[in-house]
Amino acid sequence: MPNFPSQLLTWFDQHGRHDLPWQHPRSPYRVWLSEIMLQQTQVATVIPYFQRFVQSFPTLADLAATDNDTLMAHWAGLGYYARARNLHAAAKQCVELHGGELPRDFDALLALPGIGRSTAGAILSQAWNDPFAILDGNVKRVLTRYHGIAGFPGLPVIEKQLWAQAQTHVAQVPAGRMADYTQAQMDFGATLCTRAKPACILCPLQSSCSAHAQGLVDSLPTPKPS
Ligand code: ADE
Ligand code: SF4
Repeated sequence: MPNFPSQLLTWFDQHGRHDLPWQHPRSPYRVWLSEIMLQQTQVATVIPYFQRFVQSFPTLADLAATDNDTLMAHWAGLGYYARARNLHAAAKQCVELHGGELPRDFDALLALPGIGRSTAGAILSQAWNDPFAILDGNVKRVLTRYHGIAGFPGLPVIEKQLWAQAQTHVAQVPAGRMADYTQAQMDFGATLCTRAKPACILCPLQSSCSAHAQGLVDSLPTPKPS
């Protein structure tokens, strides 16, 4: 049976998103900016904001050097304004500590404001094709279903299992395809293995999906205990 990453990549080549503005050109700065914007905001909303941002601040150093009011004017409407404050603080730290570039180092990324474990993985994998896992809400849903993992995914014990599965998959990703694999997981969770009414009938993973085999698709992921 083909493994999870290769099945997902085959699906992505045909059905994934290949025309997002941060993919052309792809750079660490552009990937980082897009990932922060996408943390709590949908792709369609992010696109025009991303484009205005990179037009006004083409480099990380330009972003670091701008004043707070100008930055906030560019963020206005995106919401979750702590993201913009963290973005600015992180850009300044990169200028002070990393020569004005985003560091290609997991712990150094994690030390920057606004970057957690999944965002650090999303940056390293997409910017450099480095083998780091992601685990956002979409990926948690896909993995709980595919592996039939019951229990609320917000629980530390469940989250730990999900990270372990995510790392196992990363080890199977072909060289040079980590960026695509990360995007594939996002696209698959957003468009096919969706929260309500996933399209199992069209799913290339159906024959190896544990939830599907056990009739548990509608009950996974397990809701938050009340
Ligand atoms: N959410 C977070 N990162 C994303 C990406 N690269 N594409 C789509 N949705 C995302
Ligand atoms: Fe998700 Fe259904 Fe595919 Fe399983 S078969 S991965 S539940 S879309």
